[in-house]
Amino acid sequence: MSKKLVIGAAGQLGIELVLALQSQHGVDSIHIADIRVPENEQLLKSTFLHLDATDEGAMHKVFEEGQYEEVYHLAAMLSATGEKRPLAAWDLNMQSLLNVLEAAKEGWIERVFWPSSIAVFGPSTPKTNVPQDAVLDPTTVYGISKQAGEYWCRYYHEKYGIDVRSLRYPGLIGHRSVPGGGTTDYAVEIYEYAALRKPYTCFLKADQALPMMYMDDAVRATMELMAAPKENIRIRTSYNLHAMSFTPAEVGESIRQLIPEFDLNYDPDHRQAIATTWPESIDDHAASADWGWKPELNLDAMTKVMLEAYQSRVIHIAP
Ligand code: SER
Repeated sequence: MSKKLVIGAAGQLGIELVLALQSQHGVDSIHIADIRVPENEQLLKSTFLHLDATDEGAMHKVFEEGQYEEVYHLAAMLSATGEKRPLAAWDLNMQSLLNVLEAAKEGWIERVFWPSSIAVFGPSTPKTNVPQDAVLDPTTVYGISKQAGEYWCRYYHEKYGIDVRSLRYPGLIGHRSVPGGGTTDYAVEIYEYAALRKPYTCFLKADQALPMMYMDDAVRATMELMAAPKENIRIRTSYNLHAMSFTPAEVGESIRQLIPEFDLNYDPDHRQAIATTWPESIDDHAASADWGWKPELNLDAMTKVMLEAYQSRVIHIAP
């Protein structure tokens, strides 16, 4: 049991996590699965499995044959898309998790990673420095599925001894992959537009602060959590995780330090109503105490990295 499987490998986090796992363990130790074929050539150096995560029979066949040391189950419908297709979001987000947990119970998987989100919080959760054991009060189907999933994870751990580990990710920002269907997606798009010297119209209001994290920090958190000794993992629902908190206006200011002419406008849409219910910042002391979590990048450092990455691509593709 030395192989690792990433389900949802073609997604925003999946692509980045697979690249990191490949470079740490080699392409042959990693299997990747998704319902769509990833476009990234490096990813496809690992064995690709075409998989519908809601198909219990197909999932169990893959796990029984693969006998995985680790499964990272990232397939999910995010907050904004989930509101358009609530029952489909519930089905994908819940059924797929139960398929993985049942396979772990069968003994086909040694260790499971499953992501939760700041979307488990809601209007009655404190707005700032949300404690680990704060009230969960999700208002989106995505958030409800993450809340339920957290308790399923703890249930399988307590009842069957399954080693399942989880993080409540904030908005994730990276340049090697694009997000899809989330409320925090603006924080990726804004850099792409700025690098292309195009004006950007933000779908959240100027002063909507949300917790965010640079992708390399999120990937490192995931790998550190999974590498930690089992006895250190005291929380079997999901760990709070924090790096930075900012508003769209603050990202705009950060970008203008490097691109003074950047033109940023606001036209809040249905995603603003979701963002309003989420907290601004998170207390992640439990993660630092239990497995040593420490974020590395702040807003300005991330802005520099994001703009450099997108700009080098613009120059590269320019005639
Ligand atoms: N980034 C996610 C979303 O916006 C939150 O976990 O839906």
